[in-house]
Amino acid sequence: MSNADYAGARAREYDRGMEVLFQTFATDEATVREQLTGLLGLAPGARVLETGCGTGRDTIHLAAKAGVVYATDLSADMIQVGRSRLANAGLGTDRVHLLVSDATRLPFADGFFDAAYHFGGINLFPDIRQGIAEMARVVKPGGKVVFGDEGLAPWLADSEFGKVLVNSNPLYRYQPPLALMPVEARDVACRWIMNGAFYVVDFVVGVGEPYLDMDLPFPGWRGGSHRTRYYGKLDGVAPEVRQQVVDAAARAGLSITEWLEQTLRAAVNRK
Ligand SMILES: C[S@@+](CC[C@H](N)C(=O)[O-])C[C@H]1O[C@@H](n2cnc3c(N)ncnc32)[C@H](O)[C@@H]1O
Repeated sequence: MSNADYAGARAREYDRGMEVLFQTFATDEATVREQLTGLLGLAPGARVLETGCGTGRDTIHLAAKAGVVYATDLSADMIQVGRSRLANAGLGTDRVHLLVSDATRLPFADGFFDAAYHFGGINLFPDIRQGIAEMARVVKPGGKVVFGDEGLAPWLADSEFGKVLVNSNPLYRYQPPLALMPVEARDVACRWIMNGAFYVVDFVVGVGEPYLDMDLPFPGWRGGSHRTRYYGKLDGVAPEVRQQVVDAAARAGLSITEWLEQTLRAAVNRK
């Protein structure tokens, strides 16, 4: 068997493994993939990215909802099997572009897509943070990103279900990489599907960090704002002086911050 035949055989073996996987959980693969791709909330005509598309098992569901899908994978052999699947489904190259590409270094401009999707490979990406950041980068603000992979729901870790799964495949130990999400992620949701064996995360792509009014004054005796509390810190003072300041501010009808700012300004401006 040539190398190419061997690689193609591995890709087809992957497809048989998928069928067994869904049967194991008594779930219908088409229904699950339909729900997952539905999380993108695609408008007709949308341009969608799929990373790690494998043999195109989600790609056909994405193509049914989008205008055009750019389906990418690191493995040319998986893509090759995917190409036949798409052709059999009557999906031409006008509807689906198949590309060999690393999900952590995408060859697309910022904001090129309306949405991005990944299922099944992210746990083993060499740089998971970068894999998510790249999906967020190429999706325009307001667009959606959905990704998921093996990862047992935490409350099932000590169940027979959980222990048996992890024994067969240690990938089920993975947890959703929420700490690796970009600061642009908004309206983040995390759910577990397939009886709690796979996590799925979805979010809307925002711009920069979330909004925070750092200057809105806090009501009450301390006063100040997020900005004064974070950026305006001075050294500590003797405890009795602190109490004297608290009392003086109360007598003056000011918050501590107002009293301190007035008093310190007067002191530093004194000639
Ligand atoms: C388990 S398969 C999932 C395939 C498909 N998404 C599915 O649900 O059937 C994982 C896929 O991720 C691909 N992959 C792994 N690392 C990748 C990377 N860094 N960039 C792009 N694809 C990658 C693999 O080649 C493989 O096809």
